[in-house]
Parts: sequence; C-alpha cells; structure tokens
Amino acid sequence: MRIGDLVIDPPVMLAPMAGVSNRAFRAIARSQGAGLCITEMVNANALTHGSAKSYWLMELDPGEYPVGIQIAGSDPIAMAEAAKAAERHNAQLIDINMGCPVAKVVKNGDGSALLKDIERATEVAARVVDAVNLPVTVKIRAGWDADSITGPDLAERLERVGVRALAVHARTREDQYMRPANWSYISMVKQRVGIPVIGNGDVETPEDAVRMLQETGADAVMIGRASFGDPWIFSRVAHYMETGQHLPPPTAEQRSILAREHLDRMVAIKGEKVAIPEMRKQLSWYLKGTPQSSRYRAECNKLSSHREAQALVDDWLAHAQYEAPSWT
Ligand SMILES: Cc1cc2nc3c(=O)[nH]c(=O)nc-3n(C[C@H](O)[C@H](O)[C@H](O)COP(=O)(O)O)c2cc1C
Repeated sequence: MRIGDLVIDPPVMLAPMAGVSNRAFRAIARSQGAGLCITEMVNANALTHGSAKSYWLMELDPGEYPVGIQIAGSDPIAMAEAAKAAERHNAQLIDINMGCPVAKVVKNGDGSALLKDIERATEVAARVVDAVNLPVTVKIRAGWDADSITGPDLAERLERVGVRALAVHARTREDQYMRPANWSYISMVKQRVGIPVIGNGDVETPEDAVRMLQETGADAVMIGRASFGDPWIFSRVAHYMETGQHLPPPTAEQRSILAREHLDRMVAIKGEKVAIPEMRKQLSWYLKGTPQSSRYRAECNKLSSHREAQALVDDWLAHAQYEAPSWT
C-alpha cells in the first residue's frame, strides 16, 4: 500500500495508543514487522503552549521509520501549527485524531467530537494538508452513535481536501471499546473513497486480519491491543497474508529477549523512575499464558527498579527453559 510516496509494506500497522505506542514500543513493533507505526496522540493546544511533554512525544527513533505523528485538536490554526512542528520533527506523515472517545478530549470538541461537526473536521484537515509537505491521514470512528454514522460522509470530504488515507476504527464513539467492532463500517467508508482505507478494530489473529481485508475491501489492517506483550503479531499477520501459513509462536528465549529490549528502551527514554511503573503491566503482558505466569505476573506488580525487572525476566526464562522445557 502507498500513502503519498510512502510505501507501507507489509500493510499491517501499529495503532496509535496513548501510554503504549511510545518510541520504545514503536521501534520494537517495526523490528517485528509492522509496516508503519503512529505515535501516541499529541495535543495541538498543549503543543502551541510549549508543553515539553508534547514535544517529547514527537521525538522519533531512527529504527522506527516509516513513522507518522498523530495530532489531536479541533482548532484549525493550532492543528496547522502542530502539523508543522511534527514535520520539523521528521515525521513522514501526519495523522489527525478524529476518533478518541475520552470525555476530557471530547468536551473540548477534539477527537471523536469532530464526527459531530463535519464542517469543522473538514476545515481542520484542509488546514493541516495546506500546512505541510507530508501526506496527511485521518483516523476516524464510524460516527458519534449508531443513529449518526457520519464517518462515510466525512471520509468523502476529507478525500476532497487532500487527505491521503483513512484509518477506520469500526466503532462509534458511544461504543467506546465495549461492543465488538462492526467491520461493515469499514466497508461503508471504503465504498465512498478512492484513497487507501486502513481497517481497525478487534484484529487479534492472522485469520482476523485476512478476513477483515476480504470482508471490507480495506487496503491494510491496523492492530492495537493484540500487540500488547505480543509484537510478533505483525510478522505473524504479514506472513499469513503472504503465504496462508502460520509462523510458530515465539520461543521463551525470544520472549525474554524482546521483553528485556522493551524494558531497556523504556528506561533509556523515560528514566527508571517513570519507566518501571509503566513496565509492570507491559512485562506482565509478555509473560501472559506462559508457565507459572500468574506467579510472575504478580511479581511484575511489585517491581521497583530496572535491575529487579531484568532479574525477573531472567528468572522467568530459566524457569521456562529448565522447569517447563516442554513449553519452550
Ligand atoms: C490504551 C489505548 C490508547 C489509545 N490511544 C489512542 C490514541 O492516542 N490515538 C488514537 O487514534 N487511538 C487510540 N486508541 C485506539 C486504538 O488506536 C485503536 O483504534 C483501538 O484500540 C481499536 O483497535 P484494536 O481492537 O486493534 O485494539 C487507543 C487505544 C488504547 C487501548
């Protein structure tokens, strides 16, 4: 799939996820086959007020290209400024968030609130497209609720103002994350536009990914939660799309290597004090479903230093290799 001049190969992407798809995890997802990663959302207003955290969110790792920076906001001028800042930070595309359902985002008219104000949403996109020399994409939900499926109309308008691809999370704002994704929303958008459409929502297995492409006509899939503790999902999906065959699951050693890499990268970018509390849940995701995982996952919750976290992963590997070798 192409977005502007960018070739997205394989057509399997890491979803933008605040608190998860940071620089450390994006580099790992790329190394495991994600064709494109998108940053956590960066709030345009915070950025224009000089928020250090927002600038930090836009820092990119050389190992993660191709990469897009996602910006969120509903003020067309602030959004154009945010897009320029993202361009200066060497993003290769700008993604606009028109799907975030969180109350504190929506109350400012940002994120999925834009699905209720198509005029403004279109103006935001048009300003951003004019402001930068990069391809601009938009991530939408289907609409505000089941009675206002505005996504397909909005998609048509976004294409007209120069948006180069759309990611469609197949839920409404009202669905939040509770109801199962309804992939027919992706088909509805695909039928209305000529630009690439990226399907998103509840892809958990390689079979899901292929079924989503077949059922909706989408050009690519975007994976969020299924990558938690399982960045191999990208290569498994890509391999299955290409060959119809399954790759074997990661070995215990591969799991421990990547968990350690994730941990070390997080400490390098955030410092031990911030990284370790965040890595408690991340590490427990890597160990999910493995021998003695409930014991190790409980240990994860108590981690307080980098050294303890490294030791826990090493101990888990030793256990998996020597005490439960049939599993590895
Ligand atoms: C923890 C978390 C944070 C998220 N943050 C963002 C975000 O910053 N921007 C965005 O567009 N979507 C965000 N999302 C939505 C995801 O990108 C994706 O649309 C959603 O998780 C559905 O895909 P999945 O079923 O593959 O997880 C977030 C989702 C989760 C679970």
